[in-house]
Amino acid sequence: MVARLTNLLSNINQTDPAKPLIAPSLLSADFTDLRSDLKRVASADLLHLDIMDGVFVPNISFGPLVVEAVAKVTDLPLDAHLMVQNPEIMIRELTALKVQAITISFEAGGHLHRHIMQIKNSGALAGIALNPGTSFESAVALLPFVDLVLVMSVNPGFGGQSFIPEVLPKIRMLDEYRKEHDKRFFISVDGGVNEKNAGVIVQAGADILVSGSAIFGHSNPAGAIENIKKNGRSRL
Ligand code: DX5
Ligand code: ZN
Repeated sequence: MVARLTNLLSNINQTDPAKPLIAPSLLSADFTDLRSDLKRVASADLLHLDIMDGVFVPNISFGPLVVEAVAKVTDLPLDAHLMVQNPEIMIRELTALKVQAITISFEAGGHLHRHIMQIKNSGALAGIALNPGTSFESAVALLPFVDLVLVMSVNPGFGGQSFIPEVLPKIRMLDEYRKEHDKRFFISVDGGVNEKNAGVIVQAGADILVSGSAIFGHSNPAGAIENIKKNGRSRL
C-alpha cells in the first residue's frame, strides 16, 4: 500500500488505474465501534484522520491515543490532517506511530517550511491544507517542498458540510502548476465529497478524494467507496 503510494506519486502526472484514491474520514465513523467501521472501509486506499485542537478550529476530535489504537486494527496507510496550531509535538508523536502522510494547515501559520521539513525528514509524506478562502497564489512558495496539497472544499472543523464548488479553479491551478513545473505532489480534496461530485473534482485534477459522511453515513460503505471511485474515474 505504501509502496503503491510512493509509486503513484512518482508518476503523478500520468493517468494511473489506481486513481482516484479514496480516503474515508474517520471523523464520521461510529466511535463506539471503530473496529467494525474500519472493516467496512477496508477496500479504500487511505484512512483520513482529522486531528483538531479546539484552537485552530472550533472543535476537538482525537489525537495520537486514538491513532495508535486505529493503527492496530487497519492495514490502510494513515493520512493525518492536522487542524492544530503549533504542530511540532503532534508531528513527532504521529511519525513515531508510522503515520504515512501528515498534512498541516496553511492558515495555522508559524514556520510552515520548517514543519514540512520535519515531516519529510521523519520519512512521512508532507502535505499542506488550504482553506476555501486561501488562494493558490499564497501557497505557491511552499509547493516545491510538499508531497500533497489538501484543498479544503468546506471550512475545516466539522464533517457533513456541503461542498463549495468555487474551489474547483484552485484544483485546476494546482494541477497545471505541477505539470508546468514537473513537480510531483498529490492533490487531495476534502469536504462534502460524494458520489455526485466526484467526477467534476477528479476532472479538475484531484488524485485523492477524502469523504466522511458520504461513506460512513452510507448503509453500504464499501459500495459508496466503489461508486465514488467509479464516478471519479469516469472523468479521467
Ligand atoms: C473537515 C474535515 C473533513 C471531514 C470530511 O474539517 O477535514 O475531513 O471529516 O467530512 P465530509 O465528507 O462529511 O464533509
Ligand atoms: Zn480532513
